[in-house]
Amino acid sequence: MNIALLGFGTVGSYFYRLTEGRTDLRVAAVLSRRPRPELTCTVTADFDEIVRDPSIGIVVEVMGGLEPAYSYLCAAMRAGKHVVTANKQLMCAHYEDLVSLAAECGVSLRCTASAGGGIPWLTSLSRAARLDEIIAVEGILNGTTNYMLSAMTENGTGYDAALREAQALGYAEADPTADVEGLDARRKLVLSANLAFGVSVREEDIPCVGISSITAQDIAQAGKKELIFKLIARAERHGGKVAAFVCPTLFPASAPEAHTGGTGNIVTFCAKRFGTQSFSGAGAGGYPTGSSVLADCLDIADGCKSFYVDRFAPCRIDLSGCDACWLYRANGEYFTCKCSAAHAFERYEQFRKEDSHALLARIAGDAAEELC
Ligand code: HSE
Repeated sequence: MNIALLGFGTVGSYFYRLTEGRTDLRVAAVLSRRPRPELTCTVTADFDEIVRDPSIGIVVEVMGGLEPAYSYLCAAMRAGKHVVTANKQLMCAHYEDLVSLAAECGVSLRCTASAGGGIPWLTSLSRAARLDEIIAVEGILNGTTNYMLSAMTENGTGYDAALREAQALGYAEADPTADVEGLDARRKLVLSANLAFGVSVREEDIPCVGISSITAQDIAQAGKKELIFKLIARAERHGGKVAAFVCPTLFPASAPEAHTGGTGNIVTFCAKRFGTQSFSGAGAGGYPTGSSVLADCLDIADGCKSFYVDRFAPCRIDLSGCDACWLYRANGEYFTCKCSAAHAFERYEQFRKEDSHALLARIAGDAAEELC
């Protein structure tokens, strides 16, 4: 099957390498603004040339951003081409439109690389959701912040130095605000919750606290109780309601999340009857992410002609039934509180009016029983 590749950055170039020498899939065209004499396929700056080419079966989009990626993918699907994307921002912003258009056009739409990088998280999760009722999904879904928190915890690295190191590894988004303020993890959570629960939730409805308020003192205080900070994205279903949030979370040192260091990701679903399954591995990087894109293309070549789910119900976020133990730091004081996530985030917003660097963190596992 012939592929047109839109974008030739890290993921695009590694995906291209992974297809070289294969006989089942071939990159026949690359959309690129600049000439790429090193490539043996067609290189064009004109998307219309790609969309009009009847030999192209799959359009792979790894350009990032909303436009022109959205227009290109819609045009590709309308032209009867299957689509694979690694673009979580696009999939979140236009989830309903893109999923509906794929169904209308009878083409496949896959985005496995957009959450969990090289981990087959979205495919495993959507398969599990067909087998059983998913109650919750949770995990470390951002490599940049996990690298930073690991460096700050294990080596005492300062926040700015840790961010620079993470950027040097090439994991951070173009604007690292999306990483450190939790927006990247929130986009991955939206896709996870949508597939897990058969819903469509809005990114902007999900409360999101990143890692920028975590200080060396916070880490040291937590360390005295053998607790470790991780940035966690979590969604739960309570009857017809979905609760979801992104927030720093304190784990006991024995928890698998606490052992997930560097740029690693770990993500877990909890199913009603068959229990909990966790997936861990490289959440970003050229070969891991390129491999997920390739896996989607292979699924399409093997006959997959749809999105992961065939239905979704628009759903509002409701945090009222989602109780947990929370740690706050405001005006130099630490205290804990057991309450709903709705109350926790409201209270945190109040504290932030007085102290813009206030901290909110959920306390997970047995530590919650001891501290709240
Ligand atoms: N900025 C993202 C991360 C890249 O750090 O996880 C992978 O989606």
